[in-house]
Amino acid sequence: MSFYSSLYYWNQRYAATANDQPCEWYMNYTQLRPFLEPERMGVTPGTTLRVHKPQILKSNRFPRKRECRVLILGCGNSTLGEEMMLDGWLGPITNVDFSDVLIDQMKHKYGEAFYRNVFGYMPLHPMKFVCADITKPLPFANESFDLIICKGAFDAVLSGPKTSVHQVVAEIHRVLARSHGVFFLVTTGNPDSRVEYLEYKYELNHYWQGVSVHSIPLDGTRERGGSVYDKGVYAYLCRKHHWANAGDNLNTR
Ligand SMILES: C[S@@+](CC[C@H](N)C(=O)[O-])C[C@H]1O[C@@H](n2cnc3c(N)ncnc32)[C@H](O)[C@@H]1O
Repeated sequence: MSFYSSLYYWNQRYAATANDQPCEWYMNYTQLRPFLEPERMGVTPGTTLRVHKPQILKSNRFPRKRECRVLILGCGNSTLGEEMMLDGWLGPITNVDFSDVLIDQMKHKYGEAFYRNVFGYMPLHPMKFVCADITKPLPFANESFDLIICKGAFDAVLSGPKTSVHQVVAEIHRVLARSHGVFFLVTTGNPDSRVEYLEYKYELNHYWQGVSVHSIPLDGTRERGGSVYDKGVYAYLCRKHHWANAGDNLNTR
């Protein structure tokens, strides 16, 4: 088991790096933006994994950016949420991390003054920051998000007990809006090592009507020299089924 799944490790790390530049794991919003365009959320190009080709009905279309409710899991001090907000994602954006040290820093950074400076006095929904462990039941109602992004945190959780990862995916599925909700996973893991965690009892299409995977090469060696993601990362776009939650409609398919 590695330290990346340990709350103690992350609290220590964020306390020690409080005054440093934000740390962006794997890739930034600019690099991920092409995958996050609402019109691409129908699970388009890339390799489609063992699921039905999604049939996207007009009524099930992904919402526009300004209405899209976004959840970022294991947000860290990445500027992903800020850059998305500045790019028009206003539905609003909720950030979750289990490090209370980090959440306090983010609340301070993105307090009222930040929104006043950036937007004048426009009545915008500020980003929310919630301290929660994503391996436990999430403190959100069913279907309360249209897009859930997990960049790096899935890999951190995976370095701990594997049962936790199944709980994470079950909760992601529960809080995603049915029919159009998308789970966007950015990870170092190729499909051979990640699909098993996206499945429900060995069935990928129980949770998802479509999953597409994109291999994203990285140019050059990243700051943590010699790490596995020098080779690149994978982005998985998983679109939730029209039935509500795991267990529903098992007998009616
Ligand atoms: C590799 S960093 C990624 C940070 C950020 N998402 C990024 O892309 O730069 C992993 C983050 O996940 C958080 N994390 C790890 N395990 C967690 C858990 N069980 N619940 C919530 N957050 C967790 C850590 O505190 C850390 O901020």
